[in-house]
Amino acid sequence: MKICFATNNQKKLDEIRDILGDEYDILSLQDIGCHEELAETQKTLEGNSAQKAEYVHQTYGVDCFADDTGLEVYALDGEPGVYSARYAGPGRDNEANIRKLLERLADKKDRRAQFRTVISLIIDGKLRQFEGCIKGEIIDEKKGTAGFGYDPVFVPSGESLTFAQMGSSKKNDISHRALAVAKLIKFLKKKK
Ligand code: IMP
Repeated sequence: MKICFATNNQKKLDEIRDILGDEYDILSLQDIGCHEELAETQKTLEGNSAQKAEYVHQTYGVDCFADDTGLEVYALDGEPGVYSARYAGPGRDNEANIRKLLERLADKKDRRAQFRTVISLIIDGKLRQFEGCIKGEIIDEKKGTAGFGYDPVFVPSGESLTFAQMGSSKKNDISHRALAVAKLIKFLKKKK
């Protein structure tokens, strides 16, 4: 069965193809002839992932899923949230994003935060959403070099290392994205 993953991130595509094996043929945006940047103009992760999946479904007529992720910091009322990639400006600069986050948290005692991923799947014309969430805290300086985004300043609850220190294999066992993908895969496998 063919299904499109509406992402331009090759790593995410490889990861899901690896997990699903031969049971599903995961198509990229290029595979379905989509070479445009998908709009993400909604104010929530749920809205953005649904927007991308609905656009691809309607425009290209394929079953598909899309994801959106944000870092939600309690003391900042959920910021940067849906704006995580562009927190410090449109340049999507990870270093600047982390700098801005640490500045905003400089005088805050409460360092609690969570990463949350929402996957929107459209199959048989119906929208379903799967959420993955990991709680943790933001430390006050960067530690580690692996991963991307806010990984160097996020320590998951019950761990002593940041995502950037623990490396991809451990991170991918416990992460927000892994949890959401696991729910999606459980659904797809049951459907087969
Ligand atoms: P996306 O929806 O997966 O593209 O994620 C949006 C933004 O959230 C990224 O540009 C990163 O800034 C941040 N982000 C998402 N996932 C992670 C992660 O696993 N670690 C650190 N930052 C992340």
